[in-house]
Amino acid sequence: QLFLPERVNAQGHDLSHAPVLARIAVDRDPHRARVWSVGPRIAVPVASLPDGHPVMNPARPGDLVGRVTPATPEAIAAALSAAAPWAVTADVRARTLTDAAAAFEDNAGEIMAILTREAGKTLPDAVAELREAVDFLRYYAARARLTPDAAPRGIWTCISPWNFPLAIFTGQIAAALAAGNAVLAKPAGQTPVIADLAVRLLHDAGVPPTALQCLPGDGAVGAALTSDARIAGVAFTGSTATARRIAQAMADHCAPGTPLIAETGGLNAMVVDSTALPEHAVRDIVNGAFRSAGQRCSALRCLFVQDDIADRLIVMLKGAMDTLTLGDPWALSTDIGPVIDAAARDAIDAHIARAGAAGRILHQVSIPGLGAFVAPTVIALDGIDQLETEVFGPVLHVVRFAARDLDAVIDAINATGYGLTFGLHTRIDDRVETMVNRIRCGNIYVNRDQIGAVVGTQPFGGEGLSGTGPKAGGPAYLPRFAMPAAAPVTA
Ligand code: NAD
Ligand code: ALA
Repeated sequence: QLFLPERVNAQGHDLSHAPVLARIAVDRDPHRARVWSVGPRIAVPVASLPDGHPVMNPARPGDLVGRVTPATPEAIAAALSAAAPWAVTADVRARTLTDAAAAFEDNAGEIMAILTREAGKTLPDAVAELREAVDFLRYYAARARLTPDAAPRGIWTCISPWNFPLAIFTGQIAAALAAGNAVLAKPAGQTPVIADLAVRLLHDAGVPPTALQCLPGDGAVGAALTSDARIAGVAFTGSTATARRIAQAMADHCAPGTPLIAETGGLNAMVVDSTALPEHAVRDIVNGAFRSAGQRCSALRCLFVQDDIADRLIVMLKGAMDTLTLGDPWALSTDIGPVIDAAARDAIDAHIARAGAAGRILHQVSIPGLGAFVAPTVIALDGIDQLETEVFGPVLHVVRFAARDLDAVIDAINATGYGLTFGLHTRIDDRVETMVNRIRCGNIYVNRDQIGAVVGTQPFGGEGLSGTGPKAGGPAYLPRFAMPAAAPVTA
């Protein structure tokens, strides 16, 4: 028995002295009273783990979701020593990952409860996230079957963000495992509970504990896992600033040429010209900017609206925003839940306050009392260059442009250096072609919203400051986790 059950009481106090932690529940009201306790899920026992840190529900102050024991340096060292590539055929790996996908679906209730309570996901977002995780498992399993002779690289570190704490966490792991590697998975500090459940389901489906180990904790754990010469590759999704730190750590400690896949942030724009259908554009603006509380890397941050229609469109946008229901993500009526925690709320609110002091707020929706809620807000700007970094919340910036200045708009968007998503609303075919050719960006969406890329049909990833590629959920992704095919030998 590698993972011993641990008991916690209803207040979350640890009653266990087990050397290796595991998840367990106090099983009353499945949403409110359950408290999960998680720690490193590694293949060898490690003694003397410290007490866990609380994991709180961002929507309900005081609601303890669980406790997490971060991976200690000893746990990290033990995991690195125990890690062993998954030495079975590609077909066995593919079948195991497909079985895990079915297990995710069978556990939909618990998964959605955790996503809602730990990450503040609304129910529609939780459903979409579960589906995306399942799609990643099935997609990479199918791709692995197409290259049965690919050789794994070794030990991959997979580091994920809190905003897709199941889908991105699972997607990185699934790709690395499908290619036969060993994985050291580091979930975001805010969302260890859902990560722990995902790893348990993968283990239960047949992934060996030596091939997949989970090391929760903050950036220090990630730093240790990207600063070791035994690492054969790093898959990272998160902010551009963290990607830079990881690249530096790998340059200092890993073998030259060790691959880094970094999927990072964006300053995503949408252009709406005077031929667009306003009702259609407004729906897509609201979805792109405010759904998921704006906490998607793909979310719309800066709307360029042609001045001929700007006043009318902004009136319609305000009306659409006023119909949004903010509240507890567990409620069926809720459109927008909280941001991830009080620190995120305070940082976004500080940005809004600066805009308020400059008299730039065009509209704001009120928030539902306590919890880490941010009021969806529209801010007027003179240009996208007034935004230095991504504001990761429900804040839309609006810039008006004249038709003759469209070239300058394209140049300004490209000049940000980011290039993740771009949206365009127009009914001029030539304009679609021009913009698609000139905007330097990973994913471009025409006459629709710019969020929610679908695994397998819309591979997702950015350019420039937004990512290294290859795109996740596309055919080029899995080969990056394997050794390059040997060149044919010619006489
Ligand atoms: P973050 O960069 O703060 O953290 C991401 C992960 O990196 C976490 O697990 C964190 O603990 C870890 N980390 C922090 N410092 C580290 C270090 N020095 N070494 C190694 N690991 C370290 O990002 P976040 O706040 O969790 O996530 C939000 C960001 O992620 C946004 O910028 C968003 O745009 C981006 N994101 C990008 C994509 C994409 O596909 N391009 C998808 C989702 C989120
Ligand atoms: N893949 C996610 C989206 O497209 C980030 O919204």
